[in-house]
Amino acid sequence: MNAAAILLAAGGGERLASGVPKGFVELDGRPLIVRSIDAARECLAIKVVLVMVPDGWESRASELIDDGVEVVTGGETRQRSVARALDVLEGRAGRVFEAVVCHDVARPRASSALFDGVLAALERADGAIPAVPVSDTLKRVEDDHVSETIPRDGLVAVQTPQAFRAAALRAAHASGDDATDDAALVEQAGGKVVVVQGDPSNLKVTTVADLALAERLLDTR
Ligand code: CTP
Ligand code: MG
Repeated sequence: MNAAAILLAAGGGERLASGVPKGFVELDGRPLIVRSIDAARECLAIKVVLVMVPDGWESRASELIDDGVEVVTGGETRQRSVARALDVLEGRAGRVFEAVVCHDVARPRASSALFDGVLAALERADGAIPAVPVSDTLKRVEDDHVSETIPRDGLVAVQTPQAFRAAALRAAHASGDDATDDAALVEQAGGKVVVVQGDPSNLKVTTVADLALAERLLDTR
């Protein structure tokens, strides 16, 4: 299945507060956008890579990456950034992609094997997402008191990259609903989304502490 990769780097990185958008922050000398591009390009099924960056950061991004990767201005929200990427892919004459993989550059440790894994699982579904078991006990809290302990059975924590049949993702985005990830939109539209084994070390960098942890994980690899 021919695939396009949408690498999401258009967030501001407010919580990391490093002075540049998160995608431009370096982890062991390589910016997060470059790490995600390298993982995506190692995956043979991926024929096109789009990187969504904040307005005003396009030329800086182009300096960091080589030809063959397209830099596109993202939207106000993550969902808008994905929608813009889908518009760019749609507007392209002559090239049809059966699959689209969406990945947050905020997860710089995603391996090309994980990209391959979610794409392979599309044989039996409209969407495929990596997930890991939840090991903490989960509680719902109102103000400062616990209102409920949530049974952990069957609960998983979901990561990116997430792969979709292109038609299913496009239809789901056209619905215009809000969702926290792309899979939720496809689920809401009635699509079948399957789970593949995620990687516990594929952490999401949100804060400085996460970045430090990602760096330590590199040391121990
Ligand atoms: N993202 C995006 N377009 C947006 C907002 C977010 O492409 N308008 C991307 C981010 O670049 C990131 C991913 O979506 O790779 C997940 O978002 P998050 O971790 O929240 O990153 P930021 O929005 O950059 O961080 P913050 O919320 O702290 O500003
Ligand atoms: Mg954000």
